[in-house]
Formats: sequence, C-alpha cells, structure tokens
Amino acid sequence: MSASDDVTAAKEATGRAAADLVEDGMRVGLGTGSTVHFTIVALGERQPDIVCTATSVRTHDLATSLGLQVVAPDEIGALDIAIDGADEVDPQLNLTKGGGGAHTREKVVAEMSPRFVVVVDESKLVDHLGPFGTPLEVLEFAPGVVTSRLEALGARRVTTRDERSDNGNLLMDAHFERVAHPDRLAASLAAVPGIVEHGIFLGSTVERVIVAGADGSVRELRH
Ligand code: A5P
Repeated sequence: MSASDDVTAAKEATGRAAADLVEDGMRVGLGTGSTVHFTIVALGERQPDIVCTATSVRTHDLATSLGLQVVAPDEIGALDIAIDGADEVDPQLNLTKGGGGAHTREKVVAEMSPRFVVVVDESKLVDHLGPFGTPLEVLEFAPGVVTSRLEALGARRVTTRDERSDNGNLLMDAHFERVAHPDRLAASLAAVPGIVEHGIFLGSTVERVIVAGADGSVRELRH
C-alpha cells in the first residue's frame, strides 16, 4: 500500500469510529472534509434515525445523497453531537480548521453541540499550531487593511485563495509559523474588523479527538 493509501485508510478508520458514537434520536452536526466524509458514508450505510445539519454545501449534498435527513441550523436549534475533521491538533486539543474553507459554518455548528468530536489521521498532530497556516474568512470590502492588521499581529505572510467560501466571502491564510498561545491569537483575530471568522478552535470546546495511525490503530485524545 502507498503512503497515500495509508492516509486514506487512517481517515476511514477514524471517520467510521466517530459514526459509532451516533445513536438513534440524536441531532447531529456534520463537518466538512475528506475525513468526516467517512463518518457520513458510515451513517448513510447504517441509516440511524437521526436529524443532521451540515457545515457546507458539499456535506449537505453528500449527506442527502446518502439518504440522511439534513435541515438548516435554525430548524434543528441545538445538537447532541458534532463531528468534524481538523488540519492541526496540538496537545491541548486546540485545532486549526478551515483548510476546506468551511470553518465559519463549522464553528457555528460545533458551538451548537455540547459534544464536539474531532476525527484526524495522525499526520495532523503537531506540537504547536501554525505550520499549516491559519485560515480566515474575510469580507471582500478591505482585504488589504485586514492583511496589515494580520502583519501587525505577527503574520509573516498572508495569502488569498482563488475560491470563495460558501458564504461568498474571501478565504485567506495567515502564516504565523508557530502559534505559542492559540487563545490569545484567537482573541486578537476575533477583534479584527473584516475577519468574519478565523480557523482556530480552542481545545476547551473539544470533547475528544479520535486519531488513526497509518498502521490502522485508532486511539482517543481527551483532556
Ligand atoms: C474544512 O474547512 C476544514 O476545517 C476541514 O475540517 C479540515 O480541513 C479537515 O479536512 P480533511 O479531513 O480533508 O483533512
């Protein structure tokens, strides 16, 4: 098996393990990305009696195509569990998210649930957030002004993606190299006018991280 096959197998192992936490009667938040994809596929195979809300158009389309009931966040109100992937996980379970540009809706959905479960392959585990870059959803109104503020906060480089978010906004990435204090950076980014949402999710919001290794092993990280 190639290294890329190993990563895909690990994503499937963790994604399917999270699906086992879903029980009949639950209201479920469905994340976005290639790992939680396997959670959604597993739920589609099992067809539990659940109602879901989705964090992106592509997750909505996948889940509905598999026969799952998906409604808007306002219709579901609150969730029992939310399951999502991540781009980086540090030892305190702080996360970088937004590699797929869906972090604004992902944060709304994660905060609707008392249980936020994260699924990753072990390549996502880092000592400090930062190497991936910090995804940002930004209003088109003044990206240059936002970039200046990010540089003042220590960003070495700020890039803008070609694609937009599902909300029609710009997607940018700020490269802080090594984020020593995710809570402080999260607060600073939240205070920049024009940033709709940043991709730092604090570990205090995470119930557990299910990690799969290239050898097929699955383990859990908790506080
Ligand atoms: C989507 O915007 C992201 O937050 C994803 O949850 C994150 O990028 C993980 O995606 P993969 O499971 O595809 O690595």
